[in-house]
Amino acid sequence: GAGLAVGAVGGGVAGARVGAADAEAGTAATGAAGGTPSLGSAAVPFHGERQAGILQPAQARVQLAVFDLVPEAGRDGLRRLMQAWSATAARLAAGEPAAEFDNQVALDAGPCSLTVTFGFGASLFDKTGLAARRPEALSPLPDFPGDALDRARSDGDLWVQIGADDALVVFHALRTLQRQASGTAVLRWQATGFGRTPGATERPMTGRNLMGQVDGTNNPKPSSPDFARTVFADGPDWMTGGSYAVYRRIRMLLDNWDNLPTDRQERVIGRRKSDGAPLSGGTETTPVDLAKVNPDGTLAVAADAHVRVAAPSGNGGAAMLRRGFSYQDGLLPDGSPDAGLLFIAFQADPARGFVPVQRRLARGDSLSRFLRHEASGLYAVPPGAPEGGYVGQPLLE
Ligand code: HEM
Repeated sequence: GAGLAVGAVGGGVAGARVGAADAEAGTAATGAAGGTPSLGSAAVPFHGERQAGILQPAQARVQLAVFDLVPEAGRDGLRRLMQAWSATAARLAAGEPAAEFDNQVALDAGPCSLTVTFGFGASLFDKTGLAARRPEALSPLPDFPGDALDRARSDGDLWVQIGADDALVVFHALRTLQRQASGTAVLRWQATGFGRTPGATERPMTGRNLMGQVDGTNNPKPSSPDFARTVFADGPDWMTGGSYAVYRRIRMLLDNWDNLPTDRQERVIGRRKSDGAPLSGGTETTPVDLAKVNPDGTLAVAADAHVRVAAPSGNGGAAMLRRGFSYQDGLLPDGSPDAGLLFIAFQADPARGFVPVQRRLARGDSLSRFLRHEASGLYAVPPGAPEGGYVGQPLLE
């Protein structure tokens, strides 16, 4: 998964949770007991070494908005847009109105942990005369077995991830950024998702996805020595300290899934549904013992269990920081739910993260019977901008 996390225990993610990262990432959000008292006033600074929206726990709401530059925009247009967008994102993240195009929709709300994260798609570089500076790591993702991708809801020049703990705050940011882009870039696709609302559970916990699984437990931990090497790029120049975001809209075949008995659902993942503990024993945070054999000689974590096939140990060490959100968009024409996971994973290089893992999952993961990858994107997420600077400045100035 990718989860949905709420900041906690296992450092989860799927969604949201980068637990241990909270403090380091400077989130002011977590109110003492469950978070609600400070929900509105919690603020995440826009400026800093990293862009916001990578290390913070996933918020209750997300909007992904991907824009394409208009043909006449060019590099100058892109530079002006990134300046304007960065200035707006910084103001909104601090709970101030935007300097222009503010429609006052979120007038009564605090920043609610708003983060705005910008990424550049491969197609942006040709349109701005920057093809020579397109990083190798931004090469198109390969096709994977079973992909059913809708290109109209994939790819795109400029990726904007807007997260906050309040839907109106998210919408306000979206509208302001969209109106600022007018004449320079047009919306190509968007997706709306959600995670756990802070305070919904008695104590902060790793979130659950729409299949009901505790999702995000075994994410790389910010405290581990190789965390930065796993998540953040060491070049080229303008990308040093940035990251690569892989996006997949993954529909869940929930009618099939929900009819599967719980013990079979657990075998598909390799973890218990109730508390996320590995089937090899222990609690949620106990390391998975992939070698453990049951008394009857079978593997405790099945050969095709999701956590086995996805584990770094079988993938040459490939790892990524999953920070996804759930989505639900009503019903499809056949009556099945149009719902699933907006999978978002950050890594230093997709060739050592998402790609080798998804190659194995697409072939050997028993979870893949219950999933359809319907859209895809890969974006270079530059490092954060210092006070007074804008995202992408070292590339665009
Ligand atoms: C682990 C669900 C797609 C990579 C997990 C876990 C769950 C889960 C429940 C166990 C808890 C945890 O460690 O987070 C799902 C669902 C998916 C999905 C519902 C699709 C809707 C993917 C994809 C990738 C991926 C597309 C990457 C290509 C991983 C990794 C782990 C993991 C690396 C940790 C494995 C370990 O080292 O223990 N997923 N997953 N997942 N998933 Fe997924």
